[in-house]
Amino acid sequence: MMTENEQIRLLKERRSIRRYDSRPIEDAILTQIFEVTRWCWSAVNRQPWKFYVIRNKELISKVAKECTTGTFAAEAPVLVALVGDADAQPNWYLQDMCFVSLQMALAAWTFGVGTCFIGNINREKVKELLDLKKTDYLLTVLPLGYPYGRIPEPRPRKSLEEIVKYID
Ligand SMILES: Cc1cc2nc3c(=O)[nH]c(=O)nc-3n(C[C@H](O)[C@H](O)[C@H](O)COP(=O)(O)O)c2cc1C
Repeated sequence: MMTENEQIRLLKERRSIRRYDSRPIEDAILTQIFEVTRWCWSAVNRQPWKFYVIRNKELISKVAKECTTGTFAAEAPVLVALVGDADAQPNWYLQDMCFVSLQMALAAWTFGVGTCFIGNINREKVKELLDLKKTDYLLTVLPLGYPYGRIPEPRPRKSLEEIVKYID
C-alpha cells in the first residue's frame, strides 16, 4: 500500500496556474527545471524536443496574444515554447512532446513554479515569431511563473469506478 509521500503529493496536488507573480524565475531554477525535464522518456530515446525560453517582454506579449485560450500567458515572466522535431522522429514526436510537457509541468511544480497547458494557439503565427522551421512542431507554449495568490482548488476527477476496469 502506498503512503501519501512527497512524490504522490506532487502528482496529485499539481494545479494549473493561470495567474503569475511578476517576480522573475532565477536562472538556477530554470536550469534545474530543464535538467529534470530532459530525463523524460521518449520513443527509442530520441528526445526530439527543443525548448525556446522567452524572457523578452515584448516577445512574451506578442506570443501571448496568439495563445487564444491562454492570454494569461502575458503575465508570466517566462514562456517556454515546446518544439518537436518531426524530421527526427516522424512516428512519435506528438506522443514524446505530450509527455515532455507533463514532465516539465511537474518539474516546475517541484520548484514552486506554476504553469498551464495552453491548447489553442495560432501555431503558425508563433512559429513565425520564433523563426522556426516548417517541420518544427509547436506543441504548446508553457508559461512559467511563481503562482500569484492562492493555489486554485482542485478540479474534480472521475472516480476510480468510472475509469478503471479490471479484466481478470
Ligand atoms: C491538452 C490540454 C489542453 C489544455 N488547454 C487549456 C487551455 O487552452 N487553457 C487553459 O486555461 N487550460 C488548458 N488546459 C488545462 C486544463 O484545463 C486543466 O489541466 C484541467 O482543468 C485540470 O486542472 P488541473 O491541471 O489544475 O488539475 C489544458 C490541459 C491540457 C492537458
